[in-house]
Amino acid sequence: MMYVCIKCGFSTAKWNGKCPQCFEWNTFEEREGTVSKKKGIATMANISILVRANEIKEVKQYRMATGFGELDRVLGGGISKGAVTLIGGDPGIGKSTLLIQILSHVASQGLTVVYVSGEESVSQVNSRLRRVSTDLPQNLFIAAENDVEQIINALSLQEIDFVVIDSIHALNDQEIEGTAGGMSQLKNVTQRLTHWAKKKNVGMFLVGQVTKEGIVAGPKNVEHIVDTVVYLEKIGSENARVVRTVKNRFGEVGEVGFLEMTTRGFIDKKDYSKMLVADETLELPGGALGMTMQGTRPLVVHIQTLINDSIFAIPRRVVEGFSKNKIEVLAAVITKRVPKVYVDKKDIFLKVNGGITVKDSGVDLAVVAAILSAITNIPFKEHIFIGEVGLLGEVKSTPSFEMRVKEAKKLGFKNIITYKTIKNIKELVS
Ligand code: TYD
Ligand code: MG
Repeated sequence: MMYVCIKCGFSTAKWNGKCPQCFEWNTFEEREGTVSKKKGIATMANISILVRANEIKEVKQYRMATGFGELDRVLGGGISKGAVTLIGGDPGIGKSTLLIQILSHVASQGLTVVYVSGEESVSQVNSRLRRVSTDLPQNLFIAAENDVEQIINALSLQEIDFVVIDSIHALNDQEIEGTAGGMSQLKNVTQRLTHWAKKKNVGMFLVGQVTKEGIVAGPKNVEHIVDTVVYLEKIGSENARVVRTVKNRFGEVGEVGFLEMTTRGFIDKKDYSKMLVADETLELPGGALGMTMQGTRPLVVHIQTLINDSIFAIPRRVVEGFSKNKIEVLAAVITKRVPKVYVDKKDIFLKVNGGITVKDSGVDLAVVAAILSAITNIPFKEHIFIGEVGLLGEVKSTPSFEMRVKEAKKLGFKNIITYKTIKNIKELVS
């Protein structure tokens, strides 16, 4: 038999009125087990960490709505309590703006939220808040602080539902060597905050700065600590943004949501495909529209190509947003299967417009169409191409075929070219 202080965990063989470790009174409880002592430090050895499953209270997975349907869907149904999300993105992309809006929305549901800014003063945060939110909720708190110890202490003083830390790069732990934003500081700060959020069952968003050079500046090294990682990126037009999950313990990965930056913060962008097709360059030869899947969503993509006679023995294939190997294959298929068209001695430059990376073969046909358009110099103005292309030049269906076609119809395309309209790519030149 032994006695354990329920406050600090100190264990002892004999009962005490006052805990010799935390000095609290009447905190000892009798437990099974024996005390092991090493140089006077009481350990918790023999106290069982096993919990009976039927004694654990069932916690309903409660989700807090962010105020953005697009973001809720990406997160797998909103913000979970006790879950930590890292949001990355280039400076100036709108991370702070988006989070301020989310905080404001969550607080307006009567929940208590805190915005911790390590980069801006309380009044700077406040002016941003006033820009995006007309009435400021009562239970929205702001703190401007860089010391992680101070932050955790302050947050622990009251019941909180949701907290945003903007950003982990600005925080610093005095116990750890290194400057704020450095690797050891970043890891440690993220670990401490994540641990706290889990213990207190608080929803948490951490902002991570990503530089133009990419993720080297941080998030990759802390991604494994958190539950969910989302990126906020530019897509298509100047004010259009896409939120994308690269890791999600609570939902699908690769899910995308679309937002638009206005002068008063972000709004959901449900008719997102329009911003990608409303482009004058569609009139020009060398381009073709296709439909890709990003997560569970169909997304219009504009494939642009430039084709020249090559001066090299091995022609160049410069590809952005699509597989280079796949271009080699499709180029060979075109050369072999389309009469009088040869691309084997030509340089091919190909780009998926809008910074989108396409991995599915459902856009093969659009890629072939774009190459053929570049060669024949005839634009496909009102067409959209959906389907895979086989080695025989045959046009095939693709996963999520119906969804892609439905989206194309919704966008008003009359000429939807699929395996139902053409059997082989050679029909594209006639
Ligand atoms: P910000 O949220 O500070 O970006 P990040 O935190 O990712 O660095 O966004 C800054 C940009 O957004 C800035 O150029 C101004 C613009 N902005 C708007 O267009 N509308 C708004 O309502 C707000 C608050 C900012
Ligand atoms: Mg910011």
